[in-house]
Amino acid sequence: MAVSAPQLRSAAWFGEGATGGHLRAFSHRSRMRQLGYLPEEHLGKPVIAILNTWSDINPCHMHLRERAEQVKRGVWQAGGFPLEFPVSTLSETFQKPTPMLYRNLLAMETEELLRSYPVDGAVLMGGCDKTTPALLMGAASAGFPALFVPAGPMLRGHHRGKTLGSGTDLFAYFDEYRAGRVGECEMAEVEGGLARSPGHCMTMGTASTMTACAEALGMALPGASSIPAVDSAHHRMAAASGMRAVAIALEGVTPQQVMTREAFEDAAATVLTLSGSTNALIHLIAMAGRLGVELRLDDFDAIGERVPVLADVRPVGRFLMEDFYYAGGLRALLRELSEVPGVLHPDRPTVAGVPFGEYYADSQTHDPEVIRTPANPVADHGGVAVLRGNLAPNGAVIKHLAAEPHLLTHSGPAVVFDSYADLQARIDDESLAITEDTVLVLRGAGPLGGPGMPEYGMLPIPAYLLKQGVKDMVRISDARMSGTSYGTCVLHIAPESHAGGPLALVRTGDTITLDVPARTLHLEVDDTELARRQAAWQPPAPPFERGYGSLYAAHITQADQGCDFDFLARPGTNPLPDPH
Ligand code: FES
Ligand code: MG
Repeated sequence: MAVSAPQLRSAAWFGEGATGGHLRAFSHRSRMRQLGYLPEEHLGKPVIAILNTWSDINPCHMHLRERAEQVKRGVWQAGGFPLEFPVSTLSETFQKPTPMLYRNLLAMETEELLRSYPVDGAVLMGGCDKTTPALLMGAASAGFPALFVPAGPMLRGHHRGKTLGSGTDLFAYFDEYRAGRVGECEMAEVEGGLARSPGHCMTMGTASTMTACAEALGMALPGASSIPAVDSAHHRMAAASGMRAVAIALEGVTPQQVMTREAFEDAAATVLTLSGSTNALIHLIAMAGRLGVELRLDDFDAIGERVPVLADVRPVGRFLMEDFYYAGGLRALLRELSEVPGVLHPDRPTVAGVPFGEYYADSQTHDPEVIRTPANPVADHGGVAVLRGNLAPNGAVIKHLAAEPHLLTHSGPAVVFDSYADLQARIDDESLAITEDTVLVLRGAGPLGGPGMPEYGMLPIPAYLLKQGVKDMVRISDARMSGTSYGTCVLHIAPESHAGGPLALVRTGDTITLDVPARTLHLEVDDTELARRQAAWQPPAPPFERGYGSLYAAHITQADQGCDFDFLARPGTNPLPDPH
């Protein structure tokens, strides 16, 4: 399987043949001996970088340290030479204020690491929320043959005979606790039952949505994204990915060839048929931007018109990722979706070396309750709507299938919170006289203001209303929302308040009208008054004084543009390093 050295980029580091080349090649070879490798183990073989986001602080990736060994096994078997690189871990649960602040940092690390080392191809290992887009964005910009190994979902949660879902049941139980219906002892049990194996969140949150996108883009092997992290099929998928990485390195299959406009349309359709996380809109727009592929918010709304929701997975549906896998997984879902004419593009290339249509052509649905047919969908149309209006000139999104239907057209008086700290301090204050008709407004939580657009978008309902049985209210913000959240939450308002968007001008008592069928979000205040408020508005102080945060604030784009850095959000080539 080894090819002659001149075909390989890594040969520039190691020289041609066993002894030829320049002084640096001699030095590099000597250091490979120091690493313990024989010349015949690596010379002339494609070097496959395994980018591993494993860390002790990332429970979703705790198995990736060992799983990298199976990837290496595959690389060796196929005649390649594997080198594992630890890269930054973005642990959704632990990293504050939000890993979203660091998505672009991991993307930069990925791009620069691939460019600066003797690498011919890459295996990207991730899955916890932002790791998937970050790794794919970096690999896209590097332009190297690369494929993605999804971390896989954790097993179902369990508590007293009930199945628990990541995020969704965390929020639900905490609301029950706040309402006084669940005590501390039971909460301690729930703590131990919510997350009980390696793997990412097993609801249709951002992790499950984005790994499905990686597969639907054609950047992961068929079926890879649905395999539970602890299933031995996951080991085999990792080994197969290592083998395939060698092949694409030799064939020169780049992300540019795979992640085309058609591929992004299929990924968008996948998000919508899964009723996936709203975060996917930001990430897919950012990924497309790296490749010069035009993808806009409105594309999601347009594609959603044609795409039924076929996955009955929480938070919109009833089941979890483990059930989804046993029901046939993403391959079966795509096969069902392929029955809807004109949605998927079966002929486009993939990293698997087969046209995309072969990802799903021969798959079967084993449980039609979990994976529906277009004739019996969870919903007729995709679950995400893009809203505009004087409160969101550049757009806002709502996952309306996760909302109470009666709130989708609603007018009510605003109660405004200027920050998350303000919200936490005052939400249970009965003197605010919040009722179920109030529109809760959170600002200062966007890409700049958050900073990093934290997942504050499912604003808590005041405890006294929870006790009365109120389960949903209209909530609007420039924040994001966890893909495992639910409720009538308008998110990603652009431009954000910190950048002077109209959200900054709302006052408590103003009427806000949400009309999801009409796709509008309106602040019922006349233009003259808004102009007066705009003139009096003072920009808040920047959240960072120095360091990465300052770089971030100087270059971050708004939610409708993907929250990438302006200097990264375009195609282009940088000079390759001269290894001499
Ligand atoms: Fe890692 Fe949810 S915390 S995927
Ligand atoms: Mg999440």
